[in-house]
Amino acid sequence: MTSNDILRQVTQEVSVCQKCVLYHSRKNAVPGEGPADADIMFIGEGPGFHENEQGRPFVGAAGRFLEELLAKIGMQRTEVFITNVVKCRPPGNRDPMPEELDACDDYLERQINAINPKVIVTLGRFSMARFLPNAKISAVHGQSMHVRGRLIVPMYHPAAALHQGSLRPVIERDFAQLPELIAGASAAPNYSTQAASEDKGDAEQLSFF
Ligand code: URA
Ligand code: SF4
Repeated sequence: MTSNDILRQVTQEVSVCQKCVLYHSRKNAVPGEGPADADIMFIGEGPGFHENEQGRPFVGAAGRFLEELLAKIGMQRTEVFITNVVKCRPPGNRDPMPEELDACDDYLERQINAINPKVIVTLGRFSMARFLPNAKISAVHGQSMHVRGRLIVPMYHPAAALHQGSLRPVIERDFAQLPELIAGASAAPNYSTQAASEDKGDAEQLSFF
């Protein structure tokens, strides 16, 4: 199967999935979207109101901000893959529950493996926790880390930056590093990941491996 075939199959399975209780209340499942050969994958938390209406990720206010952040680094949303750790909307936008995250994880895993992105950007603490269970977003945002063979950059959720104005320049600075990270990853994937982690050099960073 090609990467596109795998992504299409995941989308199909998600659209009829009943593996957790979130299927009861969804209008549309939101599998995610973007090219199978995207360099960057953005992983958010879960669909909100507008995403549930349209079946597409990040189409509300947070999505517009994400598009702005991408534009500032010369990218468009059509170039990146965008998805979430849970594919169906938690009622009232409550936090996803551990059993829902577990039930949905296989879809995300297959998407990551199919796309094999150079960089994975986690947006918010639930997607960060999938790779860095003990990390604090305030301590690690914007720092690239190598986790199970993947280059991960945790970032604040764009919705958090919309609600808390002081986070806006923070998330902008974190985004500004992405072009260089992608370029480094294409030139020498292993060197760039190691360099990124060795540069940090303190015990807290190393504990994330
Ligand atoms: N917030 C998310 O985490 N994901 C979306 O798709 C939209 C808003
Ligand atoms: Fe299935 Fe994920 Fe939707 Fe739960 S959230 S029903 S596991 S697609």
